[in-house]
Amino acid sequence: MAILSPSKKVVLITGATDGLGLEAAKKYLKAGFIVVITGRNKQKTQKAVKNIKVSTGDTDDELRYILLDLASLTSVRRAVQDFLTLSLPLHVLVNNAGTTTKTREFTEDTQLVEKTLAVNFVGPLLLTELLLPKLRESAPSRILNVTSSLHEPNPKIPGIPTNFDLDNLDGSKQWEFMYAYKNSKLAVIWHTYLLSERLKGSGVAVNCFCPGFVPGTNLNRDAPFLTRFVVKNFMGKLKSAVTIEKATDDYLLYGSNTELEGVTGKYFRDGKESSSSADSYNLEKGKKVWNVACDIAGLDDTKY
Ligand SMILES: NC(=O)c1ccc[n+]([C@@H]2O[C@H](COP(=O)([O-])OP(=O)(O)OC[C@H]3O[C@@H](n4cnc5c(N)ncnc54)[C@H](OP(=O)(O)O)[C@@H]3O)[C@@H](O)[C@H]2O)c1
Repeated sequence: MAILSPSKKVVLITGATDGLGLEAAKKYLKAGFIVVITGRNKQKTQKAVKNIKVSTGDTDDELRYILLDLASLTSVRRAVQDFLTLSLPLHVLVNNAGTTTKTREFTEDTQLVEKTLAVNFVGPLLLTELLLPKLRESAPSRILNVTSSLHEPNPKIPGIPTNFDLDNLDGSKQWEFMYAYKNSKLAVIWHTYLLSERLKGSGVAVNCFCPGFVPGTNLNRDAPFLTRFVVKNFMGKLKSAVTIEKATDDYLLYGSNTELEGVTGKYFRDGKESSSSADSYNLEKGKKVWNVACDIAGLDDTKY
């Protein structure tokens, strides 16, 4: 096992078996970080490890993996134990993993929120809470939550615009796959803003960012056929489309740029600080959503 030099930084990237997480892992490794990736399927995760090692020429055992399925809170708790067993510090946590679902579904843990919100928000919130002692101990450290500009209620975007209804967390009043996704990404921003407030002065910075519209990833794998067809065949040609290469430059920037040291509670887009939607600054509403996540995850001590 490689000896950790005191100058070595450690990054944990969730959902690094595909898309942006996979390429971001390569960028962090090339930049000299010790990289821990997570995947939910062992075979696919080992394949990703091989892919990263081959394309970066990593021979120093600077890459590790753990298994994590954010749709299972038991898996989240186990993953944290597995990470702690590695006896590494943690300087950057990238909550990258994200999903959409074809139909309205639920996880094994709860019927209070539908699955997209559970995977994109509740699971990462628990993961982050359980890793906080490690992040505090390793400070200065950073938490990066990957959100999406789709959280803004933009009528030009297909589907029902974001409209976070606290009485519809389970999608029983209305549900459509992009609507659930957009709302979940708004919840990610609330998570960021509220946690950054709580961690002021701790040396742990919490920010979120939108990687841009990156049609080259596999994000729509569970979307309806028509959506997948249009994204795959037409969207890549749009002016607004960003390549995986460009988007993952930003992943590294937000996690390593020294000019961002101490910057916390911000939303970034296109490599710079930006404003998120009006609703995202309604922290009283955010606290209610946070409390629901705490109820589901058994985090009574962190409730508002
Ligand atoms: N692509 C875009 O245009 C875009 C725009 C804005 C924001 N984003 C955000 O960027 C992040 C990365 O997305 P991407 O475009 O790279 O998508 P992607 O290619 O689908 O990659 C998503 C990653 O998340 C993992 N994942 C999915 N469900 C999971 C679960 N239940 N537990 C743990 N891991 C899970 C996937 O694992 P498997 O390999 O096992 O499926 C995969 O490694 C997401 O948060 C997404 O919302 C993407």
